[in-house]
Amino acid sequence: MSARITWERARKVDLVPVFKPLIEQDDIQAAVESLELGWLGMGSYVGEFEEALGAFIDAGERHVVAVSTGHAALHLAMMLIGIKEGDEVITPSFNNIADFQAILAVGARPVLCDIREDTLCIDIDKAEELVGPRTRAVIVMDYGCCMVDHDTVADFAKRHNLRVIHDAAHSFGSIYNGKKVGSFSDILMFSFDPVKTISCIDGGALVVRSQDEVEALHEMRLVGMGQRASVMYDNKRAWTYDVKRQGFRYHMANLHAAIGLSQLAKMPLITSSRQTAGRLYSEAFDPIEGIRIPRTDFEDTPPFIYYIIVANGKRQALRDHLSKRGVDTGVHWQPGHWFSLLKDCRRGDMSVTEKTGHEILTLPLHSDMDEKAQQRVIKGIQEFYS
Ligand SMILES: Cc1ncc(COP(=O)(O)O)c(C=O)c1O
Repeated sequence: MSARITWERARKVDLVPVFKPLIEQDDIQAAVESLELGWLGMGSYVGEFEEALGAFIDAGERHVVAVSTGHAALHLAMMLIGIKEGDEVITPSFNNIADFQAILAVGARPVLCDIREDTLCIDIDKAEELVGPRTRAVIVMDYGCCMVDHDTVADFAKRHNLRVIHDAAHSFGSIYNGKKVGSFSDILMFSFDPVKTISCIDGGALVVRSQDEVEALHEMRLVGMGQRASVMYDNKRAWTYDVKRQGFRYHMANLHAAIGLSQLAKMPLITSSRQTAGRLYSEAFDPIEGIRIPRTDFEDTPPFIYYIIVANGKRQALRDHLSKRGVDTGVHWQPGHWFSLLKDCRRGDMSVTEKTGHEILTLPLHSDMDEKAQQRVIKGIQEFYS
């Protein structure tokens, strides 16, 4: 069966999907133009994308390094700060698998922390109890449409001499205390995977503070090759170079950067569409007993995920009810310590994570949310509780 036929069939089912990428004619045109350039690897589009991202996030003195995925960004962040075998990195158990795998990839051990009930982000009071002699860093993650208390995290990290990796895969375009996400963290990463607020199809980025860090990342993302980025951004390369350090094939290619640039230009529209949709959901669900909504007015965030907390063991029944009405739902996430790979990781009290793992539900949210589709989700939920 051809891909086109499969797609046509999916459309006929008339399902409201959890994620629906916004790929329009201008994105397709941008991709075609980058292919016509004939330089398919890392080149001028990647340089332009980094520059445009820097301007968008008010990077100031900070530097943006584009990479192949968010996972690659996290792995490189671990390498950059010298995390190694035997070290420990604290991160919420309620996190993406990519974060745990990045820690494991350098031979270190994830130490799993609980989350706060109000934000579903790391509980720094509980993290205090997890700091040990081998703790080197903390990975904090803004969840869905809620922000970590980054000032408290910075204070915690300073007291314990830890590096902070800010996983901002969900908070691209958000503002924290008047500052753009990307403009204030120790080390920050974004993901531009197929379903993110903006997509490069696959892509990621790191934002770092020093030129030395940029140079190390430029080599590490290019299997260690000491190619000058400024030459590659001219769609050229050197044939001789040194290799000084370990690296992986983690660079971004022109095609992906071209799509990212096109998507970035739509951020004003994407932001207002996601904010409007978030508010519409919250207005509809706030009065329903048995559902908890995210604690945000969406003023400072274009939500990536709109979640609800479904109390009283009713999550599966609600999912089944919505599914019968053509509404897909998701679960972000199963907590890390539920996985075989991570079950033996050192961890503290997990009471909020445990409860959240059973009650969290992701509702459909798109960058160009169709109001009719959204009303179907709202009516389905109202009907379930009526
Ligand atoms: C919080 C978080 N961190 C990291 C990642 C990994 O990013 P990528 O899919 O680009 O590798 C994701 C992906 O969904 C994520 O949600």
